[in-house]
Amino acid sequence: MSEKIDRNLSLELIRATEAAALSMALVMGRGDISIITQGAAQAMYTALRAVDVAGRIAIGEGEEGEAGYLYTGQPVGTGIGPKMDVAVRAIDGARLLAHGAPHAISIIALADAGSLYKLPPGLRYMNKIMVGPEAKGAISLDKSAEWNLKNIAKAKHIDVREVTAVVLDRPRNQQLVREIRQAGARLHLISDGDIHPAMMAALPETGVDVLMGIGGASEAIVAACLLKCLDGEMVGRLYPHNTATRQAALAQGLTLNEVYTVEDLVKSENVFVSITGVTGGARLEGVRYSEGGVHTHSIVMRSKSGTMRDVRARHRLDKLMRYSEIDFAGAPTGATVAAR
Ligand code: FBP
Repeated sequence: MSEKIDRNLSLELIRATEAAALSMALVMGRGDISIITQGAAQAMYTALRAVDVAGRIAIGEGEEGEAGYLYTGQPVGTGIGPKMDVAVRAIDGARLLAHGAPHAISIIALADAGSLYKLPPGLRYMNKIMVGPEAKGAISLDKSAEWNLKNIAKAKHIDVREVTAVVLDRPRNQQLVREIRQAGARLHLISDGDIHPAMMAALPETGVDVLMGIGGASEAIVAACLLKCLDGEMVGRLYPHNTATRQAALAQGLTLNEVYTVEDLVKSENVFVSITGVTGGARLEGVRYSEGGVHTHSIVMRSKSGTMRDVRARHRLDKLMRYSEIDFAGAPTGATVAAR
């Protein structure tokens, strides 16, 4: 095996998620979502220019013309090195960051070229259940929430009342919320950002056992890359959010009944992930400032080796800004675009 192919790319990706996190950490709480999504994508794209990879964005920040940077199909990296699919959420939970709420993260995943599932146009959501290795084989979208929660409890040798499920707080998940409460499990309703809790569900003793409910489909593919590295499991089904989307999907020949697993969404054994905390959470600290510099906390992982590293870094922005093309200064003072 050549040295190039055996590089651990996640160690190089970390600079891209750190750059996105650092570039936008100063605008925390300013209420401006568009500055966050654009600024973070630009910083991540710029940092990726130093990575020797022939990357192509497979899961991006939007379509070409819609997103300035990291749009689906955009080439990234130096163009030299292995051909890879790239899945990004420059900031997952832009609204969380805009409100100064916890759990906003920056994430990037790389997998062999052509291995990431191509989302059919218009299908923005997926009904998903994600768990860690201990609960493998214990989940099904064709069974009730109670059945899933009891099965997860059994697999983890705990009582169903001790199982913690995380669900996006949306009207479309209301029935699920009722069922979880009925089953007697613990419930954590989140306002945004379901990738970080998916990672928590896959790691032991984080206080999260399962991510359930209808959330972003792009986020499902990014999370599937995480699960691949962490030996977790998921089941997901595309969810058309309105009649027009359903009809368009059926006209394309999709049954909308198909259940996707990690292996369906990520057909590669060669997956690299880097995730950096922006506003912090139970498993990842957010960006913090001190007299000595700016501090970040990231986790990097690789599926083939199963290695996962926690990386804490101190950055000297005064020095970085002397030569870096990345704008670490955040949004101009006083920028205010109303967040939801
Ligand atoms: P942001 O656009 O604020 O980063 O939101 C990301 C996210 O909360 C995902 O984590 C989640 O899967 C998805 O949006 C849910 O979509 P919607 O807000 O449309 O219900």
